[in-house]
Parts: sequence; C-alpha cells; structure tokens
Amino acid sequence: MATAPVTRGRAASATTKAAEAPAASDAQTKGISRREFLYYIWGASMALLMAESAGAIIWFSLPRFRAGEYGGIFTIDPSTLPAVGSPPVGRPDGKFWLSNTKNGLLALSMICTHLGCLFKWVDANNRFECPCHGSKFQADGTKIKGQGPAPRNLDRFVITVTKPGGTDKTNANGGPVNIEGATSIAIDTGKKIKGWPEGSAPQV
Ligand code: FES
Repeated sequence: MATAPVTRGRAASATTKAAEAPAASDAQTKGISRREFLYYIWGASMALLMAESAGAIIWFSLPRFRAGEYGGIFTIDPSTLPAVGSPPVGRPDGKFWLSNTKNGLLALSMICTHLGCLFKWVDANNRFECPCHGSKFQADGTKIKGQGPAPRNLDRFVITVTKPGGTDKTNANGGPVNIEGATSIAIDTGKKIKGWPEGSAPQV
C-alpha cells in the first residue's frame, strides 16, 4: 500500500521530463530556424542586390535607341537633300527638318520652342509658322523677332558628314555643316543643341 505514492511520484516525474523534453527540443529547433531564417533573408537580399546591380549595368551599357528611330541615328543619302536655299524637307519619323542653307546643312527639331506644337513650312512666306500661337522662324531656325511667343530659335540635332577626306560635325553652337563632297550624312536625334534666345547673334 505504501508503494502507491512512490509510483505516482515516479509517474509525475516522468511526465514532467516528458513535457520538458519537447520544450527544450522546440527551443533548440526554433533557435536554429531563426538563424537559418535570418541567413536565408540575408542571402536573398544579397542576391537581389547583385541582380539589381547587374541589371543596371546592362541597362546603361545597351543603346537606348535603335538607328532609324527617333532618339537614334538617321542616315541620309546626300543625293536626297533639298538644293541650297530651297524649302526644307521634313522627316516626321525623326521629328526633324533638313534645311540646306547657304552656310551648310541643319537638322531642325520639329517641336516649337514655345509649348511644343508641330509647326509647318509655309512656302508663300518662306518661313516656318507655328499654328498654335503664331511663332515664326527663318529657314535656319532663327526665331523672327516679335513674331510670336517662342523665346528662342528652333533646337538643332547633331549632324555628322562623312567625306573622302574625313568627317565634319556640328559644332558646339549647333551651327550649319558644310556638306560639299559628302558621301554619307548622319543625324543624331539623341543629341539636341538648344536654340539660342530670340535676338541673339547668328547661331553658326
Ligand atoms: S507652341 Fe508654337 S507658338 Fe506656341
């Protein structure tokens, strides 16, 4: 009869140990899982960072625009250019006008320097005229003083002229380029030179 409490005591002790064992095991498991979890998070963060860096390098090293698309380079056959002093020829695909002036060739942006309307060449008046607010520009893109609210000349794209002896290129002012003897002409619509303010010196 005296063995019953001892048995109950052993049983209770065994039950307590049994209860403690999984708790300890849980704590250990949870501790490892937390470390592993943090390790995986760190690894994933590093992988993401490296992927982003690689993506940025590829993005900046690839050309943004393809040849023949606005923002890219347009190759022009010199034989297709307008004669010197004749009306400019529009290239809507590249958003530029080719104007062959007595000083050389210009590639003028088709976007009005006031609020961005598309202007037209008006043969009868021998000038560009913007239908939106009436700004007017000469064939070389010079803003005609007092004719409309545009604050500056038309913007110009960089031209590279290839000749047997080498190449000629638009200068920093965006001045006209001599095309005598040209075998090929390239208009870079990714490189725009701002028109000078109305009333400034000739932009050559
Ligand atoms: S947008 Fe051309 S004059 Fe206003």
